[in-house]
Amino acid sequence: MNSSSSRHGVYGTLPLALATVTSGARIFGPFLPGAEDLADLEDGALSQLVMLAPAGVLERRYALAQGLRVVEPSGQFTVMALKDKGGSRLRKELEAFGCPVIETSKAHHRICGVTRPASLVGISEAVAAGAPRRSDTLGLFTQPGIFSWDRPDPGTALLLDHLPAFSGKGADLGAGLGVLALAVLKSPKVTGLTLIDLDYRAVRAAQRNVPDGRAEILWADVRVAELKDLDFVVMNPPFHDGGAEDRSLGQTFIRKAAEALRKGGTCWLVANRHLPYEAVLAPLFAKVTLQAETGAFKVYEARK
Ligand SMILES: C[S@@+](CC[C@H](N)C(=O)[O-])C[C@H]1O[C@@H](n2cnc3c(N)ncnc32)[C@H](O)[C@@H]1O
Repeated sequence: MNSSSSRHGVYGTLPLALATVTSGARIFGPFLPGAEDLADLEDGALSQLVMLAPAGVLERRYALAQGLRVVEPSGQFTVMALKDKGGSRLRKELEAFGCPVIETSKAHHRICGVTRPASLVGISEAVAAGAPRRSDTLGLFTQPGIFSWDRPDPGTALLLDHLPAFSGKGADLGAGLGVLALAVLKSPKVTGLTLIDLDYRAVRAAQRNVPDGRAEILWADVRVAELKDLDFVVMNPPFHDGGAEDRSLGQTFIRKAAEALRKGGTCWLVANRHLPYEAVLAPLFAKVTLQAETGAFKVYEARK
């Protein structure tokens, strides 16, 4: 089946033990490069939608509202989330949109089934609260759910305070809203900068925030990006609570930076000071210098 004509949809990476996905279903969600955006669908475009709801309140209510909007009346909307990542609030949130809910629980997830009622309440308000917008605080385009979407990140701010004026071609890995990229592109000697982020909302915001002909902005996974012969890399690698998975993602970012650089090229990065990145940097780079340190963060310059 041609997936764009399917009336079944899947949002996010569903836990396989909890949901079966119809073959040919349309794929939605900001973290799946190439997936569609629910916001682009007309009201009632789908007859069935299964969603792994995001954890953040505004982004979850936005996703739920978009989901209910695009499922036709009497269509099926199934939403799940880990109990401690918004799952325990799903039922109330769906009921507040005017939906009767059947709730079950499995594998630490709450699963809410809704037959979409003919009328809904509060949809446009939730869509407006989670929609892309310009932030006066940041002076940037942003959207709830993007990393540090409504306030400057202290780690990024520390890195910004120490970045040198670069020359040549570089990359910003996990570029987010484009805060580091804007600083890098202030140097007229920079000839090109590739911004990569896995979050479509960040990519869309960065496209507006970084209107510079030297910037190439990619919706992609850094883990599979092919970059080489770069003069410099900047990054604030992804982390959340510093769990094992996050650490290994940050370490992969460092390996990717090392692969992408020419000999003598430099990687500037900031990390939570408790993350064990020195041991990863040391064998991959000729020289690693701790350039700044606070109670919470460390800034490294790593020369290949
Ligand atoms: C700590 S934030 C830094 C954002 C931005 N550089 C800044 O300093 O404000 C890390 C970014 O990496 C992105 N990210 C996470 N995993 C990724 C992956 N596998 N590939 C590309 N980007 C990823 C996140 O969406 C997030 O925007």
